[in-house]
Amino acid sequence: LIRHLPDAKVTLFHVSTSVGRVNLLKSKFNVKSLLEEDAHQAIIRTEYKFKQEGLPFDLDVALGDPAEEIVRKAKREAYDLIIIGSRGLTVFKELLLGSVSQRVVHEVKCPVMIVK
Ligand SMILES: Nc1ncnc2c1ncn2[C@@H]1O[C@H](COP(=O)(O)OP(=O)(O)OP(=O)(O)O)[C@@H](O)[C@H]1O
Ligand SMILES: [Mg+2]
Repeated sequence: LIRHLPDAKVTLFHVSTSVGRVNLLKSKFNVKSLLEEDAHQAIIRTEYKFKQEGLPFDLDVALGDPAEEIVRKAKREAYDLIIIGSRGLTVFKELLLGSVSQRVVHEVKCPVMIVK
């Protein structure tokens, strides 16, 4: 999709739910670097795919409740499309959508693409 939209700008967004006291001390309270490290670990395969394809992207991070932070960002910035997975890691549940994707679909105003 991105390859067919040469003007598209992509932001990969990851929300950490905690940073941990030990890490906070170790990083001398550099919260942003901790969040970026956490995000990098979580989405390394996605980053790799973008790099492999030579597609530019921004990485953005936040700390808090994932659904809340995604919705907040979507409301604050003018995105044309949000691409989100249907499930996270807790795939054993029988629900169609995870709680994060469900809340995002309900609460944002822009189009949402759900990837199964
Ligand atoms: N912390 C997060 N940061 C960024 N995106 C997230 C985060 N958590 C979930 N998502 C997005 O939401 C999609 C669906 O994940 P979700 O968490 O809703 O499902 P789940 O983990 O299966 O269920 P639940 O979290 O309700 O137990 C993911 O594929 C991802 O795109
Ligand atoms: Mg989840």
